[in-house]
Amino acid sequence: MSTESAVADVAADVLEPVSAWWLTGTPLEAEHQRLMRRRANPIPWDRTTVAELSPAERQRLAETWTRRSAAEYLAVSTFAVLAIDLVAAGAPADVLSLCMRAGIDEVRHAELCLRMIEIYSGKRLMPPPGMSSLPDEPTRPKLHQALANAILVSCVSETYATTVLTATRDITTDPTTHAVLTSIYSDEVMHARLGWSYLRLALEQGGAAAIDAAAAMVPVALRGNANVIERERPVGEITDKVRGHGLMTPAEEREIFSACVREVLVPGFEALGIPCGSAVDDYGEAWAVAA
Ligand SMILES: [Fe+2]
Ligand SMILES: [Fe+2]
Repeated sequence: MSTESAVADVAADVLEPVSAWWLTGTPLEAEHQRLMRRRANPIPWDRTTVAELSPAERQRLAETWTRRSAAEYLAVSTFAVLAIDLVAAGAPADVLSLCMRAGIDEVRHAELCLRMIEIYSGKRLMPPPGMSSLPDEPTRPKLHQALANAILVSCVSETYATTVLTATRDITTDPTTHAVLTSIYSDEVMHARLGWSYLRLALEQGGAAAIDAAAAMVPVALRGNANVIERERPVGEITDKVRGHGLMTPAEEREIFSACVREVLVPGFEALGIPCGSAVDDYGEAWAVAA
């Protein structure tokens, strides 16, 4: 069988690729499509209301989805690195498999973002190459390294992602965007749960020294997440129509992060016995309204 006919067979009996221009055009695509369709949640691509938007509104959304595609793509490497840390620390099988699966989920999220860029801009872009760098201290105990990066990647970043995705989905009226955000959200919930579950286990194993390692990472992880929120945004007004396509203002995102820190993250860490220092004040109302 030729490569072309193998790919054609796959396309016929598996599913339509989300962003075909980001694939190899080889028989690898068959297994890729099986991995990507782990959850059957078809996206209604043809129900997009993009035609109702002005060129400036489309441009604003295309740039946002371009940034989202880069972030989702980097998250593939984030979970790959976290998996290495977890293996080194002797993490249990379910933690390992879910971490590896999270990386696969991020590939799918990147594909969805690329398709959204195409919808708004007509351009078939690919994510920029790169990889996220996680803190790496080879001299520290492997358990501490693993739990620290689980806090950074999963407990803080992914938990915040679930809260911001929920709020964004609530204002989204475009059916295609709503389905894409729902699909991503359902994975991010599990990505967050992975870290909290592992953290509890690691603290039970590691005792007081593990608590200290966790407490040292909390402010670093919160600052890292806040840096992303404080970053400059693409130019362009966030009109009501743009909001309906799943875009909030930076000020709204600050409010959500602030609430997430105070109502979810700090209570969660403290319930596990991890002191959070001045986190509640650092990301309180003064920070929330500073934009
Ligand atoms: Fe993601
Ligand atoms: Fe994720």
